[in-house]
Amino acid sequence: MQNHSQTVAIVTGATSGIGTAIAREMAAQGHRLLLVGRRQAEGEVLAKTISASGSPARFIAADLSDRAAPDMIVQVALQAFGRVDLLINNAGMLTFGTAEETPDTDWDAIMDVNLGAVFRLSRAALPALRAQGGAIVNVASDWALTGARGAVAYAVSKAAVAQLTRCMALDHAAEGIRVNAVCPGDTDTPMLAASLSHKARDARLVALGAAVPMGRVATPEDVARVTAFLASDAAGYMTGALVPVDGGMSAG
Ligand SMILES: NC(=O)c1ccc[n+]([C@@H]2O[C@H](COP(=O)([O-])OP(=O)(O)OC[C@H]3O[C@@H](n4cnc5c(N)ncnc54)[C@H](O)[C@@H]3O)[C@@H](O)[C@H]2O)c1
Repeated sequence: MQNHSQTVAIVTGATSGIGTAIAREMAAQGHRLLLVGRRQAEGEVLAKTISASGSPARFIAADLSDRAAPDMIVQVALQAFGRVDLLINNAGMLTFGTAEETPDTDWDAIMDVNLGAVFRLSRAALPALRAQGGAIVNVASDWALTGARGAVAYAVSKAAVAQLTRCMALDHAAEGIRVNAVCPGDTDTPMLAASLSHKARDARLVALGAAVPMGRVATPEDVARVTAFLASDAAGYMTGALVPVDGGMSAG
């Protein structure tokens, strides 16, 4: 995995927020990319822009709750580029609610996308990753590391992703496949914006940032740089790690 111009990375949730930042960062480091998202038009534009900057990128539209999606995504990557070295499981959704406020539909949807899709796509990618060694980076959350108030389904799904990360790291270490997770704190993306009242968005961002030891929420690029590091050979002796990117939030 030394020559990045040969490596191929799959990035899910690429058309928005942290996923777009990861795609741009990975492209800047020379990886070839298969971008996965649900919005065809945005995805095609992103792939074109990234390709124009010098790193070949393709886009494929897929809903990760579709059970056929994982094999299809891996096949498309293999057909387009001949190999898969890196899988970045970034796509995710957020719901709020205590246990009593969380209907079965929310619980099932969030477990299916935030946890099930990460499991299914990782499983589907293993044979291709095993061929030359590779790495998986899961985008979890600092709520995978601490309890959270009023977001029980989301926080439990992310804690399960953390455990999936550790279990897969152990199972596949001897095969040359590393599995790590980034655990972002509040990050300025459409997901966070959707959870804030629109009018008060800027003030709420400042208020959220004030609660962070480093005094601000994360940018998508803060998370993307650590994700790209975990995917890189510089992190070649790291596996099973859950790395907070949260301005110190989970340190307290
Ligand atoms: N923004 C934050 O504060 C924050 C904090 C911690 C962790 N995270 C995690 O970071 C990741 C990226 O989030 P973001 O903040 O960029 O949010 P976002 O809403 O901007 O992006 C999420 C992406 O996931 C995709 N996605 C959701 N459900 C999907 C499905 N069924 N099939 C395919 N794609 C699907 C969306 O289309 C979107 O592209 C998520 O896993 C999120 O849980 C975000």
